[in-house]
Amino acid sequence: MSRFELRTPKDFILQTLAPRQRGAFSCLPVSYTHSMEYRKTYIKDLFETAPGTAASAFGWVKTRRDSKGVTFVQLSDGSCFKDLQIVIDAGTLDESLMKLLTTGASVRFDGEIVESPAAGQAVEFKATAAEVYGPADPEKYPLQKKGATMEFLREIAHLRGRGNTFGAVYRVRSEASFAIHKFFNERGFHNVHTPIITASDCEGAGAMFAVSTLLEAHDETFKMRSLKPADDFFGKPAYLTVSGQLEAETLALGMTNVYTFGPTFRAENSSTSRHLAEFWMIEPEMAFCDLDGDKALAEEFLRTVIQHLLDKCAPDIEFFNQRIEPELIKTLEHVATSGFEHLTYTEGVAMLKESGENFEFPVEWGTDLQSEHERWLTEVKVGRPVILTDYPKDIKAFYMRMNEDGRTVRAMDVLAPRIGEIIGGSQREERLDVLEARITEVGLPLEAYWWYLDLRRFGSVPHAGFGLGFERLLMYVTGMKNIRDVIPYFRTPGSAEF
Ligand code: 4AD
Ligand code: MG
Repeated sequence: MSRFELRTPKDFILQTLAPRQRGAFSCLPVSYTHSMEYRKTYIKDLFETAPGTAASAFGWVKTRRDSKGVTFVQLSDGSCFKDLQIVIDAGTLDESLMKLLTTGASVRFDGEIVESPAAGQAVEFKATAAEVYGPADPEKYPLQKKGATMEFLREIAHLRGRGNTFGAVYRVRSEASFAIHKFFNERGFHNVHTPIITASDCEGAGAMFAVSTLLEAHDETFKMRSLKPADDFFGKPAYLTVSGQLEAETLALGMTNVYTFGPTFRAENSSTSRHLAEFWMIEPEMAFCDLDGDKALAEEFLRTVIQHLLDKCAPDIEFFNQRIEPELIKTLEHVATSGFEHLTYTEGVAMLKESGENFEFPVEWGTDLQSEHERWLTEVKVGRPVILTDYPKDIKAFYMRMNEDGRTVRAMDVLAPRIGEIIGGSQREERLDVLEARITEVGLPLEAYWWYLDLRRFGSVPHAGFGLGFERLLMYVTGMKNIRDVIPYFRTPGSAEF
């Protein structure tokens, strides 16, 4: 049979086995003996279960160790950082079943929670029966290797969540998402869903992916159905959104406090450790609020979410502290309890110029700050997060409120040590004439923003908001060095494998 003629699970197993193991793997049960309801008890719950309780443990084998008269299996189901130690006394399970208990295999063990003599765990699991659902050929299982590099793990993103590091990252990601919704919900913010397909460029940076049905894919070559935008699906050019802000503003001017939390897309051709083409952004928008209110919310928000994660994800964060970023817990605790430094862009630039540092990119008033500048300010100069405000208008988006000086706008960036910019936000320009002039000045078509301008025609109000890059926050709280490693499937220039 060729590799591509797989029909039944049994064929597959025979196929993937080295010849010497075929005998063992061919005895795989073809039907499952245990009910397959969704799991209500996890390994994390078994750790809280009293010794002497009968239980079943479901998961994937992480490692296996055989010693005289006993086999130890480390079992994980992703529910917590710790693996459950399964103890199998020699002779308890069939030899044919024992052979299937290799790294990567999915298994159910039946048995009993017992007190553990081993250090670092109160209980372990004494197995009396087992069922292997899917074996994993140890010769071929990609996660078998110890000490795999982050680069290698990116190539097997579909499997890396089974390992310690990525299991921890994805648990923190999940808890952070929950903490964010909780934070806003408790403060009366409405969660709004802003569109993913849009016709307007919020940031005016032109780094947008087009959404079109004009392009037809035939085998390996691309053909155009038409070249006229009017023939396209929406009858005009449309894009994946770079930010939900403009639509969130429309909803805030009616619902007062809203936030959107969704995927955003940027076709910037920058392959850095901090940029993704698809990332998630949290964008609160507040009516009757100015830049000071915006700054206060950003600070309270970051500190609350970080404290929540310190409380709820302690074992995962301890692991990051040990293996990924020394001092992580210390800095997170510091951030959660101390205020951020507030500086204007002008003050920040003056500090950078006086620093005597030999930056790769020189700093002048009016230039955008590079990551090296942001990191110097937060890491070297201040030693904690910095909120930088009042940037020159020419390096910021059209919607930011103009200051009296006519040169700077009511912008704010929150800069974090190790990461640089983590939040970008501003007070919004609420004056119709000033906003129209700005849109025209930056070369955007006024007609396309008629609905956005309507907000300034009818019941305009001072309002403000910001965008937090979710993956940048996750880099900050996990200490992971590359943004590709805090999202399950990363999209970067030249890379969209899965
Ligand atoms: O500073 P940005 O471009 O701001 C906005 O999009 C505003 N419309 C937000 C608002 O006021 N509602 O992006 C906000 C944040 C950045 O501070 C950064 O954390 C993150 O989004 N970000 C990225 N994260 C990953 N990959 C990229 N390519 C990113 N670009 C921005
Ligand atoms: Mg920004």
